[in-house]
Amino acid sequence: MGTDMKITMIALGYVGLANAIVLAERGFQVVAYDKDAEKVDKLAKGEPSFEEKGLSEALKRNRKRITFTTDEKEAYEASPVVFVAVDTPSGADGAADLSHVEEAVACIKKYAKGDTFVVIRSTVPIGTNQALNEAASGTEQRIHFISNPEFMAEGRALMDERTPSRIVVGTNDREARDLLRKIYAKPIFAGAPYYEMDGASAELTKYASNLFLSLKISYINEVARLAEPLGADINAVALAMGADPRIGHSMLHAGVGFGGACLPKDGSAFVKTAHDQGLRLSLVEDTLTINQTQPFFFYQKIIKKMGPLSDKRIAVLGLAFKAGTSDVRHSAAEFFVKSLLADGATVSSFDPSSSASESFSKQISPSDKYLPSKTLQEALTGADALLILTEAPEFSSFDEAALCSLMKGRVIFDGRNLYPMRSFRFFDYISIGRPERKH
Ligand code: UDX
Repeated sequence: MGTDMKITMIALGYVGLANAIVLAERGFQVVAYDKDAEKVDKLAKGEPSFEEKGLSEALKRNRKRITFTTDEKEAYEASPVVFVAVDTPSGADGAADLSHVEEAVACIKKYAKGDTFVVIRSTVPIGTNQALNEAASGTEQRIHFISNPEFMAEGRALMDERTPSRIVVGTNDREARDLLRKIYAKPIFAGAPYYEMDGASAELTKYASNLFLSLKISYINEVARLAEPLGADINAVALAMGADPRIGHSMLHAGVGFGGACLPKDGSAFVKTAHDQGLRLSLVEDTLTINQTQPFFFYQKIIKKMGPLSDKRIAVLGLAFKAGTSDVRHSAAEFFVKSLLADGATVSSFDPSSSASESFSKQISPSDKYLPSKTLQEALTGADALLILTEAPEFSSFDEAALCSLMKGRVIFDGRNLYPMRSFRFFDYISIGRPERKH
């Protein structure tokens, strides 16, 4: 099969849409399905339903090779190669909720004609692909499930998919292996590391990778807790630690913890998988506990510094879970805004992404003490203190004179350690794992 091959993509969230676009860039014809009609309408007009670097332009460039549809039959019958990128959110017991995967599998069984190759890009519990293959074997339809986990981070999803750090393919089926080598021929030719293994190993690679990234963050945050009473500077420590290539600089930035749609949920699901096997992953459990408690540590500093909050106005900056995305799932801001409001503060809030601000406001009960702001200036005006929660460039280059003219108070809480310690002359500067810097 050449690049005239058609591929069906099921679900158009961050993973599915970025993946559909990159497959189109590689020359495939993609039939892209989502059941959300509003989303599909927008995509067909070239408008993504979320913010992601380069997505709009890439979508426009590749529109001719992607057909967007809400028609289940059209999508599943379009090709014997079906990529599945549905979400697998956390269920009540912490395990991944597989209902969307099950829906997709039911459709595949309903429409499959001959040999059908199902490439599972969603993060699914270890053993899922094997179980799906076992359930499909012995039936007349020849359906092959292949694990092909994605390793995209939001904000650079297209880049991660175009030039992947590695491609992992989990299947014991020779035909499926051959097919995936053809689909990934271009990145393989360009030198992307390509690993073939069984389904369970591929699924485990995904969880083990995400948890290792989480572990690095929780480790530096735990060291930051110790740095504070010792009067050390965690930024200086992390910089010097990361210079050892065996440690590396990435995911070693202390802050208010990790959020987002992946790391927290994958952690809970991994712990649950181990419990089901009668095992305890103590490192992973501690990683999650450190992350859950990290915001409290920082919040205590706010309370200690500001005293009673009922007559205070705090400007909370950064509502998405990280800079460069409109995604507010598991964002630190939810905890801080809710806690500040519960303690009687007036809270103004701002995010450089207007859709992040919009989605975030839906999580907060309306109150005359909650003031979502359209501009940074508006959020800062009259504030007694400002609280930085993401690494957005807008928050890392403040002009102190402008801050002085807008704000009432002179306190900066920096939950992402964006500034060198001596950056402010007129403000008390409180960050994480570093001593307070008084003006
Ligand atoms: C993550 C993984 O990076 C990606 O490989 C996987 O496929 C999906 O999950 P993502 O959730 O988009 O990607 O965000 P990431 O950039 O990893 O950041 C996660 C969280 O950790 C953010 O809240 C971020 O602010 C925080 N973080 C990140 C830190 O606190 N310190 C760091 O050093 C890095």
